[in-house]
Amino acid sequence: MDNGGFSKNLISILWISVSLVLVGISECSPGRPLIINFGDSNSDTGGVLAGTGLPIGLPHGITFFHRGTGRLGDGRLIIDFFCEHLNLSYLSPYLDSLAPNFTSGVNFAVTGAMTLPQFVPFALDVQVRQFVRFKNRSLELQATGTGSYIDEKGFRSALYMIDIGQNDLLMALYASNLTYEPVAKQIPSFLAEIKLAIQNIYSYGGRKFWIHNTGPLGCAPKELALHPHTKADLDRIGCFRVHNDLAKAFNQGLRDICKEMRTVVKDASTVYVDVYSIKYKLFSKYKKYGFEDPFMACCGYGGPPNNYNQKGTCGQPGSTICNNVSRSIVWDGVHFSEASNRVVSTAALSGRYSTPQMKLESFWKA
Ligand SMILES: *[C@@H]1O[C@H](CO)[C@@H](O)[C@H](O)[C@H]1NC(C)=O
Ligand SMILES: *[C@@H]1O[C@H](CO)[C@@H](O)[C@H](O)[C@H]1NC(C)=O
Ligand SMILES: *[C@@H]1O[C@H](CO)[C@@H](O)[C@H](O)[C@H]1NC(C)=O
Ligand SMILES: *[C@@H]1O[C@H](CO)[C@@H](O)[C@H](O)[C@H]1NC(C)=O
Ligand SMILES: *[C@@H]1O[C@H](CO)[C@@H](O)[C@H](O)[C@H]1NC(C)=O
Repeated sequence: MDNGGFSKNLISILWISVSLVLVGISECSPGRPLIINFGDSNSDTGGVLAGTGLPIGLPHGITFFHRGTGRLGDGRLIIDFFCEHLNLSYLSPYLDSLAPNFTSGVNFAVTGAMTLPQFVPFALDVQVRQFVRFKNRSLELQATGTGSYIDEKGFRSALYMIDIGQNDLLMALYASNLTYEPVAKQIPSFLAEIKLAIQNIYSYGGRKFWIHNTGPLGCAPKELALHPHTKADLDRIGCFRVHNDLAKAFNQGLRDICKEMRTVVKDASTVYVDVYSIKYKLFSKYKKYGFEDPFMACCGYGGPPNNYNQKGTCGQPGSTICNNVSRSIVWDGVHFSEASNRVVSTAALSGRYSTPQMKLESFWKA
């Protein structure tokens, strides 16, 4: 796309000049915690519902919210546990037109979002453009003194989180009939979008970044149910090798981008969080965490081995819910249960899976 190339060039020129101007200006006060999030269903707190009207109601939300919030899962997501940890209220989606509350930050994540193609709702570049608009408008409204909006200081002290890429990998996998090479060839283009997003957010004042890598997609009950396979296609614990090898290749590249950011941009912190390892451990050591049947969806249809059938996905007629959701790793075949999101967020909050090793709250320590 011509236009894409043009804006990429423009943005990188902007990026260079902005970083030249801003290097050396250091943070004087740590500010208060705020989260500004970009991504897909892993962290969508209602964006797809607000943005498309796609009816995501009960049984999603059944464990905690007791109503449909637009989250895909039985309860809270990792980002919700992060907000609780920081004593923040849950993030309103940017697209929420009815009584949003942006005092804790804002969420641009939308279920199904990908890094590519650009200019399509709600791809990562679109989410970043929405952020630019959100910031501009918040500052304008803040200046009028009517109501409370995030101010310049808030945008500067906010943590910018990104969790995206799994849908790009899955779509490419489906298109290639699950072959490694054609998907691997596309990974650099997905990663380039994430790098561009970080650079653009930086050029609009973001200085704190928290980047989640992508999970072990090959362990999802949906993937195992939909794609016929033999033992040779699976790894030692029973997950699809090709999915996970691609996720690992993607993650290696993402780790490198975060490292490059830390080297090149001295006045920003970029933390890479190895969510893959945490999630993989859930599947490989599921008993230790109190889970059962790691490759069975809790909410679905069909029974063992995966309880996943496209004719009766979670919420559709015929689907049922397991006896105890907190014993399931995966809720609906794709999305994690609240119980596993709790384990994942606790591990992520420990700082042990972060590079550099640091805790979420330390972004706001003086
Ligand atoms: C959140 O609130 C609790 C209770 O008031 C407090 O102990 C804790 O330090 C707070 N956490 C953060 C990150 O501010
Ligand atoms: C927005 O949320 C904050 C807590 O994060 C709360 O103090 C405030 O009252 C809320 N604003 C409205 C209008 O509900
Ligand atoms: C918001 O955008 C408008 C139009 O581009 C610009 O004139 C204005 O200066 C911006 N306001 C802020 C606070 O950045
Ligand atoms: C996809 O791969 C499977 C297993 O390798 C093979 O049986 C099937 O024919 C392939 N389908 C297409 C459309 O190429
Ligand atoms: C569900 O499982 C969890 C974790 O194993 C357990 O703590 C809880 O008591 C169970 N609830 C019921 C109703 O059996």
